[in-house]
Amino acid sequence: MYMMVKHLHATFAVLSLVFLLLRVFLAWSSATKLDKPWLKVLPHAIDGLLVASIIGVVVVTGMYPFSVPFVTEKLVGFIVYVVFSVLTVLALRGRFSAKLKAPFAALAIMSWFWLAKVAFMKHGVLLAAI
Ligand code: HEM
Ligand code: HEM
Repeated sequence: MYMMVKHLHATFAVLSLVFLLLRVFLAWSSATKLDKPWLKVLPHAIDGLLVASIIGVVVVTGMYPFSVPFVTEKLVGFIVYVVFSVLTVLALRGRFSAKLKAPFAALAIMSWFWLAKVAFMKHGVLLAAI
């Protein structure tokens, strides 16, 4: 159970980044590319399953945010990742100055790698002192 849930969790985390990068590359110069039906449905289905897998891995391991420091850091990092992912897609859609596409995408990608590093180290990188 533990290995299955953990692998599902890691798989959806990877797919979430892959679909963010796909949208960045496809729609960098043309926002209409984002209007393909599968690009509207699939990324959100994956992100929804990622959220479900997070709940699953937290319950199965019994490691909850605010009781295990690195899991608290993952929760904070995940909120940062979601915020910058949404800002990236909105920037691709032309909702902000085009200059913001690159910094938003960079911050979303960096926050994803921050979370992956915390996951493998099982240790806070930015927030936890120990
Ligand atoms: C994009 C976001 C995330 C990424 C890239 C990510 C990545 C990973 C990876 C790769 C693992 C497997 C580590 C291993 O094999 O040892 C893992 C495990 C885990 N993740 Fe995440 N994760 C994310 C979000 C979250 C969030 C938001 C939480 C909780 C608030 C969380 C809680 C956990 C827990 C409890 C484990 C199990 C750790 C263990 O077995 O020791 N993850 N995560
Ligand atoms: C299960 C929890 C979630 C719910 C209920 C939720 C809900 C929503 C809703 C209602 C919208 C507006 C949709 C629209 O205007 O068409 C939205 C947009 C968005 N969400 Fe989520 N969301 C969730 C999780 C996530 C996660 C985990 C991510 C990414 C890591 C994410 C990334 C986005 C993005 C990038 C947009 C902009 C989509 C676009 O304009 O094409 N969401 N979300």
